[in-house]
Amino acid sequence: MKKGMLKKILAVTIIGIMGLGLVSCGNKKDKLSSIQESGKLVVGLSADYAPYEFHILDENGNDQIVGFDVEIANEIAKDLGVELELKDMNFENLVAGVSSGKIDLAISGMTPDEERQKSIDFSDIYYKAEHGMLVRVKDKDKYKNFEDLKGQKVGAQMGAVQAQIAEEKIPEADLQLISNVNDLVLALKGEKIEALVVELPVAEMIVKNNPELMIAEEKVIDNEGGSAVGIQKGQEDLVEKINATINRIKEDGLLDQFIIEANELAEKQN
Ligand code: ARG
Repeated sequence: MKKGMLKKILAVTIIGIMGLGLVSCGNKKDKLSSIQESGKLVVGLSADYAPYEFHILDENGNDQIVGFDVEIANEIAKDLGVELELKDMNFENLVAGVSSGKIDLAISGMTPDEERQKSIDFSDIYYKAEHGMLVRVKDKDKYKNFEDLKGQKVGAQMGAVQAQIAEEKIPEADLQLISNVNDLVLALKGEKIEALVVELPVAEMIVKNNPELMIAEEKVIDNEGGSAVGIQKGQEDLVEKINATINRIKEDGLLDQFIIEANELAEKQN
């Protein structure tokens, strides 16, 4: 072989390798294709939030995570043509999990607030809710309004918007942050805290399953509140797909059905 020919082959090979490198770099950045290539969608959630996401024992006594967020995750996976894998995590670690790529999405009743939008993107809102404050029934007359909790221990989930709401509405309370909502409920029942600020649908479910607790009179109307899917920044194609799924299940009534079913399941549990 002539020297010139050899050089040409070498050059073509090198360009080819560089090209491959570029393509694979591009793929690494594109979450949608990497999810589709791996055949699996990894969704992070904090399964302490009935009816959004919670644990149940199925008829064989096996632990299972259910709830309307799980059904939404299922529909997204189905539309992407991949399998769903759930990762049960502490709520306060979800945003970092999404931005670092440890999980593909966070679907966990997450409110797309300004602070989080600095590090991750969000889908359209799929569910709106207000916030409520749980107290013990026996303290019914003692704790009616936020004002009544001055100087008292008030609980909220660590990393959740309810922690900020509690701080804002009851600035003189002694705020107790705990990672898991089930532990917060235990703390309230065990008189370690006097009140618990949590999303209203969750508060309602907690009261159904814990008749010694009730929702205090004063509520927080949150027009900016609601739940959306958390997605790594700059993944427009993936955001578009997820919004298409959300839109589909809103339009055809599936989402309403998921919410009703999740409420029924959560009530049956206890
Ligand atoms: N909506 C609130 C927030 O975004 C609380 C969500 C808590 N979710 C949960 N699965 N525990 O901060």
